[in-house]
Amino acid sequence: MKLVGIVGALAGYKTYTVVHKVLRAAKSFDSNVQTELIDLKDYDVEFVKGTPLSYYNADTVKVVDTILAADCLVVGTPIYQASITGALKNLLDHFPVDALHNKVTGMIATGGTDKHFLVLDYHLKPILTFLKAVVPESNVYVLNDHFDEENEIHDSNINRRIKNLGEEIIKLQKLVDQKNKS
Ligand SMILES: Cc1cc2nc3c(=O)[nH]c(=O)nc-3n(C[C@H](O)[C@H](O)[C@H](O)COP(=O)(O)O)c2cc1C
Repeated sequence: MKLVGIVGALAGYKTYTVVHKVLRAAKSFDSNVQTELIDLKDYDVEFVKGTPLSYYNADTVKVVDTILAADCLVVGTPIYQASITGALKNLLDHFPVDALHNKVTGMIATGGTDKHFLVLDYHLKPILTFLKAVVPESNVYVLNDHFDEENEIHDSNINRRIKNLGEEIIKLQKLVDQKNKS
């Protein structure tokens, strides 16, 4: 089973840290899980122009194809202007409507204020479910105050949520795969 993490931040490293921790939690839960992290700052993903994927640059094709080939996903975004980042929305705009069918897709956000914790449920989740993803009940929202100077998180509640999300993605994906086989 392959789990791909997506970091929708072009600037800082907080979202990267949390996505990376969820991938690690999934791997500790089941060592057979393969993981890959796509950090959008490492790729030049072009703006959607309405043409077929083959018209875009190699980075865009690589990112889209890696996500399409994954069994399950975890998507992380910083909160920007009370929503997800434009970079992440643009990436999601590249996908056909059934792209995430049968893919369990976990959600993560980092933000400066707790006022925006519902962005995951109200902004990201509707896009993921439109793309037919199976979205786990639990998600992870981490405030900037939860990170220390080395970008580590010491809050036991947040660390428990990170571990739970990693495990839940794998457990749910196994159920989805079993159901599809029967
Ligand atoms: C352009 C911009 C807009 C932001 N808007 C919000 C916001 O509306 N609500 C919030 O809680 N944090 C907001 N923030 C803070 C970021 O979400 C926060 O610092 C996040 O942890 C950054 O993640 P990163 O280190 O992965 O880039 C904003 C930051 C930037 C740069």
